[in-house]
Amino acid sequence: MSRLDTHRGRVLLTGGAGYIGSHCCVALMQEGYQPVILDNFANARRDVPDRIALAANGPAPQVIEADIRDRTVMETVLAEGGFDAVMHFAGLKSVAESVAHPERYFDINLGGLTVLVAAMAATDTRRLIFSSSATVYDARATGGAISEDAPLGPASPYGHSKLLAEKVLLAQAEADPSWRVGILRYFNPAGAHGTGHIGEEPADPPDNLMPYIAQVASGRRARLQVFGDDYDTPDGTGVRDYIHVADLARGHVASLAALERDGRGHVVNLGTGRGQSVLEMRAAYARVSGREVSFEIRPRRPGDVAQCYCDATRARAVLGFEARHGIDEMCASSWSWTRRREGLA
Ligand code: NAD
Ligand code: UFG
Repeated sequence: MSRLDTHRGRVLLTGGAGYIGSHCCVALMQEGYQPVILDNFANARRDVPDRIALAANGPAPQVIEADIRDRTVMETVLAEGGFDAVMHFAGLKSVAESVAHPERYFDINLGGLTVLVAAMAATDTRRLIFSSSATVYDARATGGAISEDAPLGPASPYGHSKLLAEKVLLAQAEADPSWRVGILRYFNPAGAHGTGHIGEEPADPPDNLMPYIAQVASGRRARLQVFGDDYDTPDGTGVRDYIHVADLARGHVASLAALERDGRGHVVNLGTGRGQSVLEMRAAYARVSGREVSFEIRPRRPGDVAQCYCDATRARAVLGFEARHGIDEMCASSWSWTRRREGLA
């Protein structure tokens, strides 16, 4: 019986101070695990561990400031840490930046993963959960809900870096069956922790829809630009599968449990299985926040697809996971986080 079966284990969270990692850290603490964060703080604030403590109503997690590309440090951390599993969130995530600077994405998302895998192999750490993305699919080749067996075909260097990382992990698990790898393909994470203590630190200006809408609601930006209203969707605007970040975090805890229970790895979509349009998201945010969210229709954004939502069947079957929160809860939690962050609370 592994240590995860007998007591809640120690889990290393690379990139654990980031948006998704910090929510997973809270979820793991609340389930009795001992998460340890490793982060170089390239895209996270220094006070995140203290805010995780507030959100979890517990102690601040241990933090190791390091870069995943540093093999010596990674081996030392893993050799001395006694970790039962690693959750690998560290990486870069902007599709547009990856087109302009693919070298950064292959260096960190692929090179960093390769270093991590080598360090794990050298220290007999063989449980890994990986943050992959719906961007690995060829969304144009997929008509409706996207299942894990849908055609793969990323449209950006970011997507390629994720797909190549998946291949590295699957090859490792095939070569050594004692490895157990959970590959989680996130659809569109949104929202924040219900306490308002942790949430997303968006780029400036934000790349993604929800943080952009939040800044229009707060008055930081004048209006939302809706990229295209002539898609073949019910209201003409792009449709995506927004999943509450707290649900996503529960999905990681379920993935860890499934790796132990099933004795083998999995590749699973994490989404709700439902699509929402840009205008539906805008209307929900305006209603929930009670603020004006002005918008204008702009041309389509290059590279966007009309719709992208998941088939959530395998997540239910393999992880016993189903998203619980809807878009109103995503908007409400995003709004309390945004108000606190922008000093409006
Ligand atoms: P984030 O930027 O908030 O978190 C990433 C964390 O990794 C940050 O804290 C950053 O400081 C850290 N980091 C970056 N490079 C590092 C390095 N070389 N060494 C150590 N730490 C490093 O991003 P997020 O939204 O929390 O995303 C987490 C993971 O999920 C990423 O791998 C991302 O590609 C993936 N993902 C995110 C989304 C999304 O929409 N947020 C969707 C699909 C997949
Ligand atoms: N959108 C707008 N205005 C904005 C921002 C977005 O109209 O200011 C629209 C987009 O055109 C799209 C929808 O809102 O129809 C969602 O766009 P996002 O940028 O929020 O999300 P994407 O689906 O384009 O991409 C996100 C992440 C990727 C990830 C992908 C997985 O940015 O990293 O989800 O589906 F790979």
